[in-house]
Amino acid sequence: MAVEEVFKEASKHAEEVLMEFSAGAKNLAGELSATVAGLAGELSESAMETAVDANAAASTASVAAKHWCQHMMDSFNTADLLTLQNVLYALLAASLIVILIMELSKPRLKLPPGPKAVPVFGNWLQVGNDLNHRNLSDMAKKYGEIFLLKMGVRNYVVVSSPQLAKEVLHTQGVEFGSRTRNVVFDIFTGKGQDMVFTLYGDHWRRMRRIMTVPFFTNKVVQQFRHAWEEEIEFVIKDLKADPTASTTGCIVRKRLQLMMYNIMYRMLFDRRFETMDDELFKMVSSMNRERSRLAQSFDYNYGDFIPILRPFLSGYLKQCQELKDKRLAAFKKYFMDERKKLLDARKARGEIGHPKVAIDHLFESQEKGELSYDNVMYIVENINVAAIETTLWSIEWGVAELCNNPEMAQRIREELDTMLGRGNLITEPDVARCVYLTAFVKEVMRLHMAIPLLVPHMNLKQEKLGGYDIPAESKVLVNAWWIANDPALWEEPEKFNPDRFLTNGIDASGNDFRYLPFGSGRRSCPGIILAMPLLHLVLGRLVQTFDLLPPPGVDKIDTTEKGGQFSMFIKTHYNMVVRERSD
Ligand code: HEM
Repeated sequence: MAVEEVFKEASKHAEEVLMEFSAGAKNLAGELSATVAGLAGELSESAMETAVDANAAASTASVAAKHWCQHMMDSFNTADLLTLQNVLYALLAASLIVILIMELSKPRLKLPPGPKAVPVFGNWLQVGNDLNHRNLSDMAKKYGEIFLLKMGVRNYVVVSSPQLAKEVLHTQGVEFGSRTRNVVFDIFTGKGQDMVFTLYGDHWRRMRRIMTVPFFTNKVVQQFRHAWEEEIEFVIKDLKADPTASTTGCIVRKRLQLMMYNIMYRMLFDRRFETMDDELFKMVSSMNRERSRLAQSFDYNYGDFIPILRPFLSGYLKQCQELKDKRLAAFKKYFMDERKKLLDARKARGEIGHPKVAIDHLFESQEKGELSYDNVMYIVENINVAAIETTLWSIEWGVAELCNNPEMAQRIREELDTMLGRGNLITEPDVARCVYLTAFVKEVMRLHMAIPLLVPHMNLKQEKLGGYDIPAESKVLVNAWWIANDPALWEEPEKFNPDRFLTNGIDASGNDFRYLPFGSGRRSCPGIILAMPLLHLVLGRLVQTFDLLPPPGVDKIDTTEKGGQFSMFIKTHYNMVVRERSD
C-alpha cells in the first residue's frame, strides 16, 4: 500500500477514534456539569452515568483502535508501520495543541471573592455547616458585599449590601428569581409543585395569581379581620382564666400558636381548634414542627454538598418522605375532604351565598383546570409553614421585647389609650394610625428577622452580579439581616430602639433595600398584607390588657436566637408572667 493511502487511512481512523473520545469527553463534561449544578435528586445517578459514559467512550475507542490495528497489520510491512507511527505521533501532538488552544481561549470566569476552596469539599470543611446570618455577616466583613462559598458541588453566593440586594431582587429579579431546592425540600414540595420553592416561570406565575384572590388582598383582610380579632380575644380570655399566668408565669407562645393556627385555618378551611388539647391540633402542629425541623436542619448538608455521600442520607430522606406522606394525607382527610363534602352538600341543597374561604377558591381553580389537586395540596402545605410559623416567631420575639422593655410597652399603651379611649381594643382599621406601635413592630423585625437570609434565590443561567460571574444554578443568599444590622447603615444596630423608625420613613414593603424583612420584588412575601396587621393587633391588644413581666427571679427574657437553613427563631420558648394591667 502506498504511503499516501496509509496516511489517508490512518488519519480517517484516528479521526474516528478522536471523535469517539471527544463524544465521551462531552458526555463526561455534561454529566459533571449537571453534578456541579447540583440538579436535585440526580447526583448519585449522574456520578454513575459519568462513570458509565467514560467507560463506554474508552471501550468504544479501544475497540476502534484494535480494529484498526488489526486492519493495518494485515496490510503493512514494518517500514510502513514505522512511518505510520510517526504520522500518528504528529497527529496526536497536533490534537493536543488544538485542545490546549481551545481550552486557553475559553473565557475565564471572574468569580466573586471568597475563601480558597479545596477539591471535592470546597469550603465546607473551613466554614462548617452552620451558615447562619451571623456567620455569613462575619464573612462579609472579610470578603466583602458579595462572596462565593463552594460547598462541595454547590455554589453559595452571599450578597450583603442594599445595592446588590436591589440587583438580585429588583433589577435582575427575573434572572435571580428562581429558587434552589435540595434533596429534602424536593421531597416536601414534590420537586417544586408548590409556590414558595418553585422556579421562576409559568407555574410560579399561575400559582401566585391564583393564591392572591383567597389570601393576599385587602378584601381578604376585611373579610377575616373580625375572625382575627376574635381569636386574640380568646387568647386574652384564656390567659385571664389561667391562674399560673399571673403568678409563676406560663409559656405564652403555646396559646399564641393555637391562635395562629385558628387564624390561618379559619381563612383556609373555616375550621378552628377549640383548645390546645384538641387531638387534631396536636397532630397537625406536631407534624408541621417535624417538617420544619427536618427541612431547616443542617444535618443533611453532607449529602447535599457531596453527592457520592448521598446514600448515607437514605435514612434521613426516608424519614422526610414518610412524614410528608402522612402530613399531606392528614391535610386531605381531615380538612380538604371534609370541606369538599360540605360544599357538595350545600350545592345539593341549592344553598348559595356562603362566604368563600381559601380552599373553596382553590377547588374552583382546580375545577377550571388551572391547578392540579396536588398543587392545591402543596398550597395548603406552604401556608402551614410560610404563614403560621413566620408570623408566630415574629409575635414571639415581639412579646419578649415588650416584656424586656416595659417603658416601650407603656408608650404603646398610652398611644392606644389616647387614640381609641381606654378599654377599646385596637382593630384592624386603627393600625395605620398607630405610629409608635408600628415603629415597634418594624424594630422587632429588624433585629429579629424571621427569614434573615430570605428564601434562597437562584439563577438558572450564568449571570453577572456586582462585576462578577455567577455560575448557573448558584444559591444566592441575600443577607437581609446583616443589611438591616450593618453599623455602616444603622446607628447602634444592636440596640432595640423603635424610635429609629419614627424618623427614617422606612417601611417593610421592600421599597428601601436597607430593610427587607419580607424581601422585595417578584419573589417577595405576599403574606405581608396579613402579617403586618396581625402583628399590630396581637401585640397591641396584649399590651392594652396585660402587664407582661419576666417570671419571678428572672431579670430579662432570654432572647438568644436559633437559626436553621434560612429561618431564625427564639431559642427558648420562654416563661412569662401575664397579669391584668395595673395602671
Ligand atoms: C411575619 C411574618 C412573615 C415574614 C417575616 C415573612 C417573610 C418572607 C420572606 C423573607 C420571604 C422570601 C422573600 C424572598 O425570597 O425574596 C417570604 C416568602 C413567602 N411568604 Fe412570607 N413571611 C411572613 C408571613 C407570611 C404569611 C402570613 C404568608 C401567607 C399567608 C406568607 C407567604 C409567603 C409565600 C407564599 C412566599 C413565597 C413567595 C414566592 O416565592 O413567590 N408569608 N416570606
